Amino acid sequence: MKQIIDVKVKTRKAKFTECKTDMLVVGRFSDGEPDEVVQALDERLGGRIGQLAELGDFTGKPKTHAIVYGEGKIAANRVLLLGLGEQKKATLETLRRAAAAAANRAVELKVKRVSLALHRSFGDRLAAAALGRAMTEGVYLGSYRYDEYVSENGNGRLGALDVEIVDPDAARIKSLSPGVSAGAVIGQAQSYARTIVNRPANVINPPALAKVAQDLARGLKRVSCTIFDEKKLRTLGMGGILAVGSGSQSKPRLIVMKYTPARKPAKDLPTVALVGKAVTFDSGGISIKPAQDMDQMKFDKTGGIAVLATMQALAALELPVNVLGLIPSAENLPSGSSYRPGDIVTTYSGKTVEILNTDAEGRMILCDAIAYAAQQKCGVIIDIATLTGACVVALGTCKAGLMSNDENLVGALRKAADESGESVWHLPAGDEYAEEMKSKIADLKNAGSRWGGACTAASFLQQFVGEAKWAHLDIAGMDVFLKPTEYGCVGGTGFGVRLLTTYLMNLAKGK
Ligand code: BES
Ligand code: MN
Ligand code: ZN
Repeated sequence: MKQIIDVKVKTRKAKFTECKTDMLVVGRFSDGEPDEVVQALDERLGGRIGQLAELGDFTGKPKTHAIVYGEGKIAANRVLLLGLGEQKKATLETLRRAAAAAANRAVELKVKRVSLALHRSFGDRLAAAALGRAMTEGVYLGSYRYDEYVSENGNGRLGALDVEIVDPDAARIKSLSPGVSAGAVIGQAQSYARTIVNRPANVINPPALAKVAQDLARGLKRVSCTIFDEKKLRTLGMGGILAVGSGSQSKPRLIVMKYTPARKPAKDLPTVALVGKAVTFDSGGISIKPAQDMDQMKFDKTGGIAVLATMQALAALELPVNVLGLIPSAENLPSGSSYRPGDIVTTYSGKTVEILNTDAEGRMILCDAIAYAAQQKCGVIIDIATLTGACVVALGTCKAGLMSNDENLVGALRKAADESGESVWHLPAGDEYAEEMKSKIADLKNAGSRWGGACTAASFLQQFVGEAKWAHLDIAGMDVFLKPTEYGCVGGTGFGVRLLTTYLMNLAKGK
């Protein structure tokens, strides 16, 4: 799929003062002396940068910036100074956000070519490849816009952005480069996810999403895509997916993607199943939601699309690990054919579920896909879903909930979260919480009491994983930006793409 803004990131060897560009971007911590890059530029610019600090106009505080014009004294037309905050607090995410803020400014100013020297502020504290990757991911995130359906091309933004990471040292360029390549793959995958997620429910319904997945797989190496349609779901007995989809004219689907690497995975590596909830619109069904903010429920497909985009990234990175991507997709609508509160549904696993609330639909489609993954003998199952409002109440919009039956998997996902900047918080699940999900007239019920809703939902899912190591990511609240941030426009975040891809990269490397 064509990018909405055609973003390219490369590296170039150049001296900062001689770097011909529309915008040269440098960082400045709020403590300590300005680094050598800033000093060299300041000297050529006759102390203009130093003056900003003296006047207190720009002191390097986080989320601040200043622009100084080159006036022919340096090769760049402008210098964008970005505040990085305190040195001791700086992480890869500081750099990712700074690069994003730069790319975001560049799109606003209609700048064609941006040259980043942000990594220089970090010296040798972090590996160069990691710096290159974080900067490149930041560029894609910050420049992202969604205006597919704006006829006049919105504010007349440019259709392309050329970014380069500059450094005078050839060896440094060489060590940044692999990170830049990986960052471009991951950044593009996340932007792709954001675009599909942002498309509304009258465009992306379950059959349309299945077609998107097939088109994607056709362009990827070593990824197959099989679609289980309504008939196949009925034959298999996937009663959960069928029940949720029964109220809509657009029939449900299970998208099954399989990546088989060319390079053989290490002997003891498990096949990983990624299972993503793709409810293309969640009205709540017969247990209908209030009208306020119901439009946001087009984002209820985010987990599924994060899986889709992760398949894209992992195939492009040619990671040596077997991955099964499962995306159950349904539209949850009320109608004469909808499932009802009180219904008893037989799921793919054979377990029966009493429906108490048709708005607890995510677990009903996930339980079939998870049981299928377990049956396919996947050693690790990770599901990702905008599952519960309770998770948003517990964690807000900064971190996703992480529940699991395996401490090592928790550790690996936490590590991936730290590295990718997509943050998680470990929450409990298990037998104590599962107690609440027992029904008197069926094996399970689909909704518990008001309390601990994120944990009881996870405990419901846990009962379908069989022998697998399992983790659940509740990304409700992480699926959408309600305000513009340095990471671009309001709307879909594509949350999960960086986290899952990083997890798989580490797994493939045995880290
Ligand atoms: N998709 C929603 C969860 C959600 C809420 C996501 C807010 C993003 C923002 C989910 O299907 C849902 O409706 N969950 C119910 C479950 C309840 C009925 C047991 C909820 O959280 O209210
Ligand atoms: Mn719901
Ligand atoms: Zn939902």
